Amino acid sequence: MKLTKFVDRLPIMDIIKPKRKNKKGSYYEVRMEEFKQKLHRDLRPTRLWGYNRQFPGPTFDVKQGEPIQVKWMNNLPSRHILPVDRSIHEVAQHPEVRTVTHLHGSETKSASDGYPEAWFTKDFKKVGPFFKREVYEYPNRQRATMLWYHDHSMGITRLNMYAGLAGAYIIRNEQEKLLKLPKGKYEIPLVIQDRSFNDDGSLSYPRQPADPADNLPNPSITPFFLGDKIIVNGKVWPYFEVEPRKYRFRILNASNTRAYQLYLDSNQPFYQIGSDGGLLKKTVKINKLTIEPAERVDVILDFSKYEGMKVILKNNLGPNADPEDETDEVMQFDVSLPMEERDDSNIPHNLSRIPSLKQNKIDAIRNLKLVGSTDKYNRPLLLLDNKKWMDPVTEKPNLGATEIWTLMNITGFTHPIHIHLIQFQILDRRPFDLDLYNKDGRIVYTGPSRPPEPNERGWKDTVPAPSAQITRVIAKFTPYTGDYVWHCHILEHEDYDMMRPLRVIDPNHTDDKE
Ligand code: C2O
Ligand code: CU
Ligand code: CU
Repeated sequence: MKLTKFVDRLPIMDIIKPKRKNKKGSYYEVRMEEFKQKLHRDLRPTRLWGYNRQFPGPTFDVKQGEPIQVKWMNNLPSRHILPVDRSIHEVAQHPEVRTVTHLHGSETKSASDGYPEAWFTKDFKKVGPFFKREVYEYPNRQRATMLWYHDHSMGITRLNMYAGLAGAYIIRNEQEKLLKLPKGKYEIPLVIQDRSFNDDGSLSYPRQPADPADNLPNPSITPFFLGDKIIVNGKVWPYFEVEPRKYRFRILNASNTRAYQLYLDSNQPFYQIGSDGGLLKKTVKINKLTIEPAERVDVILDFSKYEGMKVILKNNLGPNADPEDETDEVMQFDVSLPMEERDDSNIPHNLSRIPSLKQNKIDAIRNLKLVGSTDKYNRPLLLLDNKKWMDPVTEKPNLGATEIWTLMNITGFTHPIHIHLIQFQILDRRPFDLDLYNKDGRIVYTGPSRPPEPNERGWKDTVPAPSAQITRVIAKFTPYTGDYVWHCHILEHEDYDMMRPLRVIDPNHTDDKE
């Protein structure tokens, strides 16, 4: 189905208001519900799942150092809106729709992290083996940045998120205000996703098999999903009217599989000021922005020289792209609004301090492989270090330990690897000969190790680990002990089975789980 581009105005998500304030901070309630929303002028309303009946969910806007509490409630119907209501893990036993919310990039106690097996069904009637509490606590003690919240249910994350369960979460602080970045209506979150639709407006997603025990004729789980329409803030290919001045855009790739290489058809640069974990050290002027699933980039765009023009945010599909592929465009900026006031915002050169973790004593180096495989039904299966989710936990850093994780990608494509609880730094990437490795297990480097790109030299929680390269990251595991996870953020990989437990251990109290 064809949809005309740039006919719907870019929506801006509401800021969620607390229900009440108490001594533990602001208290919010969020309901996951099914509802319909119009995603394009010419598309019938789409049945979706959203937080507080919004897609994307409402934006949290909180202050650093002020903790909040959120009661996440599952009010979803018992059948999934996608052409599957079962999945690989334990689903046969749990036909009801399970959800659990994770605040991505947050420094949160284990019991509030949204462990995949901490799921619950409607009205908390059934809860998963790791269920701890109904009200989650977010301390907001970390750096100011844009995090995001999304579903993380065991084995069905790709479906729950595709159905709409994702939203933005901004932490602010005072130092950032001093930088005089564009703010208020000149600071806009852009949540980019891809979707496909059926003619009746419903979401289209390839039919998935149930549990192998169901003996489906075609037992294959698709290890990727690429939609043919691009959505920003819940509209297909929107336009946004701007003044000829500077804007700050906080861009999130909330797609299941798709990575974007963003650029502007006006050839104007992005001034990137922040990455996943907040402001960079220095502003990076950049023409092409690669953004893998779950990554965030914080950029300033200056439209002051483009008065009266239309500027398209494009997505570079590479030289072999199908000319029919319309995902080479994301949205359009119409520089058509009159200036309301003088633009006294800045693009500062120096932004923040980023102490390097390299100075720390290294407590452990973990060599971890990103592996492609097949299961006993011959379905594609992706693994971390050849282990499945259910295998005993192997990544058990001590509380306060600094570790280097060496991610060796022996598959044919990039995996965005995400670690919960902490923000890490990228050390380097080094290419090796994959054919030789596959033949006899030898690692022969084919080039020197490269430092991270200038716009990757800040705090990250998700790192693109390219094929045939060893990507090294360094992290300090603090401030909480307990059960977390690390995984590939391509949701089709995460669900089967590129996710592993991560347990931070207090060496002095070995059974400490909180
Ligand atoms: Cu964005 Cu484990 O998640
Ligand atoms: Cu996360
Ligand atoms: Cu992956």
